[in-house]
Amino acid sequence: MVRVLVTGGAGFIGSNFVKTLLSDRKYEVIVLDKLTYAGNLDNFSEKIRHDPRFIFVKGDIALRKNVYQAIKKVDKIVHFAAETHIDRSVVNIDPFVRTDFVGTYVLLEEFRMNPCDRFIHISTSEVYGSAQTVPMAEDHPIAPQSPYAATKAGADRLVHSYYKTYNLPLVIIRPFNNYGPNQYPEKLIPFFTTNALEDKPLFVYGSGQNTRDWLYVKDCCEAIKKILEVDINKVKGEVINLGSGSEVAVLEIADLILKYFNKPKSLIRHIKDRPAHVERLISSTDKAKKLLGWKPATDFKTGIRQTIAWYQNNPAWWQKIRKRKEYQRFYREWYEKLLA
Ligand SMILES: NC(=O)c1ccc[n+]([C@@H]2O[C@H](COP(=O)([O-])OP(=O)(O)OC[C@H]3O[C@@H](n4cnc5c(N)ncnc54)[C@H](O)[C@@H]3O)[C@@H](O)[C@H]2O)c1
Repeated sequence: MVRVLVTGGAGFIGSNFVKTLLSDRKYEVIVLDKLTYAGNLDNFSEKIRHDPRFIFVKGDIALRKNVYQAIKKVDKIVHFAAETHIDRSVVNIDPFVRTDFVGTYVLLEEFRMNPCDRFIHISTSEVYGSAQTVPMAEDHPIAPQSPYAATKAGADRLVHSYYKTYNLPLVIIRPFNNYGPNQYPEKLIPFFTTNALEDKPLFVYGSGQNTRDWLYVKDCCEAIKKILEVDINKVKGEVINLGSGSEVAVLEIADLILKYFNKPKSLIRHIKDRPAHVERLISSTDKAKKLLGWKPATDFKTGIRQTIAWYQNNPAWWQKIRKRKEYQRFYREWYEKLLA
């Protein structure tokens, strides 16, 4: 049995990754998650919660004693835990510095004391800032624009420094925009989908011409599993982008979702642009193909249909979140400002 520590495993990508791992009988998973507003045990079925190969530990990656306990006797580490919503980082950067940067530092220190087979750090395409050349390869300049991206860039480079300085088995992954089931409904695709289902406005920053490289979450998880299994000498110290190699604009997604539900275009509401909004992200897929033999299996048309259908068929999951005072307060305060 291979025991994997998954930090942030109760969030969107983390919980999808836990499912990917548990579908393979050779894995046992320890999730270390603080259960912030974005962490959700509803992301796990009853079957998973009762699976003896699944262990959930509530804990904070920025607290050494929590990490020390969790890291003992694991074979591999996949580090997802982070504050992830760019809009929130504009309002309050504090938890971003604490979790994304300091939390990663604490994990790295504990890993240095207790090394195991490998530590996969989940960074983000946001560290690049807006595309200066396309497609964006791993040597594209690091030029983060938002506080979220800056704290992730700091963590990304800190991981790299631990590889260079201590020669530890570290791998840095930079996924592009993920979408799919169980994504917190403040993020673009579930936000638009659930608002459309409730006949609420789809708020589009500025012109809506900003593009992203959209990666279906299950494809992302398959790629990370490959990185967990490939010969470590092939990936140690490497930075690997995970993306589709194509781009879709925000406005196009809004149109597509409204069309799917047969709702009027008048639901689209253009608002002031978010400060430091990245204009364009599009991934080079060459390195992932070369090192892992991986490319995404799901094209955007298929993935978005599956995703919309998932939210349509699982209203209890997202309605519970949207009813929370915390969700409504952020929504109201943030969008009120941009409407004014
Ligand atoms: N979603 C995307 O499109 C995307 C793209 C590229 C990279 N990423 C990266 O992937 C990772 C996961 O993203 P996501 O979208 O699943 O995020 P998410 O916000 O859905 O989940 C984050 C999880 O981390 C947990 N967490 C937060 N602070 C913690 C702490 N101090 N200690 C322990 N757990 C803590 C939360 O409770 C939650 O379960 C992040 O590192 C993010 O930067 C995400």
